[in-house]
Amino acid sequence: MIRTIVVVGMLLLGAGAVMAQQEIAVKQDNLMRAQAKSLYGVIQKTVKGEIPYDQKAIDNAIAQLEQTVPTIPTVFATNPKEDVVNSTYGSSQKIWQNKADFDSKVPPVAKAIADVKGTIKDGASLKVAYESINSKCTDCHETYRLKLK
Ligand code: HEC
Repeated sequence: MIRTIVVVGMLLLGAGAVMAQQEIAVKQDNLMRAQAKSLYGVIQKTVKGEIPYDQKAIDNAIAQLEQTVPTIPTVFATNPKEDVVNSTYGSSQKIWQNKADFDSKVPPVAKAIADVKGTIKDGASLKVAYESINSKCTDCHETYRLKLK
């Protein structure tokens, strides 16, 4: 009887741990998706002329990026050791082997955002801002993001 309880308890603990890890991976992925919504869903689409230039939407997107980008090192503090189910991109294990280097890829993104803030007035200045920010996002992705499919 006691043995059964212990075994069931251990199974439940195991399931809990797996769920917690998936939650961590989802949280990390949600942060990236939120950033993508601003940078690609609003800014890049405006640059490409797919949506009309809307100063308020641009300013909101920049403000959202300014707030969320500095949280990357904390949100990626724990290694979930698994990918989000069915996701296109995953985290390289290198992140947690070189966490300091991973974290060092974040301030350049924040700086690029700070540098362009207040300079965006039209399509041309938006394009410059987009390219500057995006190149810094890519700097991290090249080393630490894996294409899964
Ligand atoms: C310090 C490293 C780092 C920086 C900086 C970074 N990312 Fe990521 N990004 C990752 C990692 C790792 C993944 C893969 C794991 C994940 O999706 O959470 C990722 C995944 C993504 C994905 C794919 C999400 C999906 O599953 O479809 C998008 C889109 C993305 N990032 C956008 C951005 C944008 C936009 C910026 C810049 C504003 C940015 N990232 C900055 C590390 C970074």
